[in-house]
Amino acid sequence: MFEDNSHMRIVSLRTLTIPLVLLWGTSAQVVNPSQNVTNVAIDLLDASHILHFLDVVDAFGHVSARNPDNTSQFIMTFAIAPALATSQSLVTYEIDNATAIQLTFNTSVTGEAIPSGFLERYIHAEIYKAFPDVTGVVHAHTTNVIPFAAVGIGLKAQMGDAGSLGTHGTPIFDFETLPTKILPQDASHNLLIGNEVLGNALAATFSDDSQVVLMKGHGMAVRGTSVRNVVFRSYYTMENANVQSAATLLGALGIGGRPPQGLSARVATDATTTFESENLLGRAWALWTAQVDKEPLYVNDLRP
Ligand SMILES: *[C@@H]1O[C@H](CO)[C@@H](O)[C@H](O)[C@H]1NC(C)=O
Ligand SMILES: *[C@@H]1O[C@H](CO)[C@@H](O)[C@H](O)[C@H]1NC(C)=O
Ligand SMILES: *[C@@H]1O[C@H](CO)[C@@H](O)[C@H](O)[C@H]1NC(C)=O
Ligand SMILES: *[C@@H]1O[C@H](CO)[C@@H](O)[C@H](O)[C@H]1NC(C)=O
Repeated sequence: MFEDNSHMRIVSLRTLTIPLVLLWGTSAQVVNPSQNVTNVAIDLLDASHILHFLDVVDAFGHVSARNPDNTSQFIMTFAIAPALATSQSLVTYEIDNATAIQLTFNTSVTGEAIPSGFLERYIHAEIYKAFPDVTGVVHAHTTNVIPFAAVGIGLKAQMGDAGSLGTHGTPIFDFETLPTKILPQDASHNLLIGNEVLGNALAATFSDDSQVVLMKGHGMAVRGTSVRNVVFRSYYTMENANVQSAATLLGALGIGGRPPQGLSARVATDATTTFESENLLGRAWALWTAQVDKEPLYVNDLRP
């Protein structure tokens, strides 16, 4: 143990300009990133695992965070299933062009040595570029949500914890109706947001009313004010889709039934403020991290 640690320390001290030595218990470790980046990375790994545990993502889908030390960069894993994310899968990317800079927790790994990223990291880069206040983004293929774009109906907030969906109906991004200047005829029509132009078009679909864009035939994009916040919004978007589906069916069944109206703007706004507060969001986060901690599949090697 002692030999391993001192070896790591020598390697890291040589490769780092400003090494930060943290003492955890009796073992000394050198950690490259700042404490702020480490804190965000801890949440990002938990977020990847929680989104899988809650069935918001499956093998596909991803969550990212703006770099708290540099607002021109974001952090997300290279292309792996979110359930399998560890600190060594985190990559720091340019927001400008979604180019990989380095492994977040091993800055000596740069350029070609970085494993391939998600093709759709442009979703994240372009949302951060368009919205300076956004610090967390999720993209997911949640099946409960997809029917709403399929029939051309946006989600409306049906319950307080999904207030951030807004009251007008979430915007719907339709890949198949993009103009050829955004999606040329000879480009692959595989629904994937694989370049800046497509990412920019998706980001431009957001409305002030809603923190979610539905992607027809594909999934959703969610923006948030922190990693925890965007996970909360993503999960309750899925739950809201379940409620709205059930309410729509029930409304169509009985005499006098009606389509679900959703919350009023006043209630949706006030409920969002309450539910997304540190207190309630924190309560959810405490439960979700406790749940993923019980599952050997998920490894957060940054959390002591
Ligand atoms: C870390 O984050 C805190 C809270 O956002 C901030 O006040 C502080 O300045 C940050 N530290 C550094 C070194 O950026
Ligand atoms: C912040 O990120 C940009 C883009 O990667 C980079 O050019 C710049 O040097 C960084 N700033 C600092 C202070 O590291
Ligand atoms: C990506 O953007 C960064 C920051 O603007 C820039 O330094 C870099 O040269 C760009 N890389 C490519 C491949 O365009
Ligand atoms: C960083 O990556 C290099 C190249 O893969 C590797 O040799 C080194 O052991 C890694 N350092 C740490 C601390 O994991």
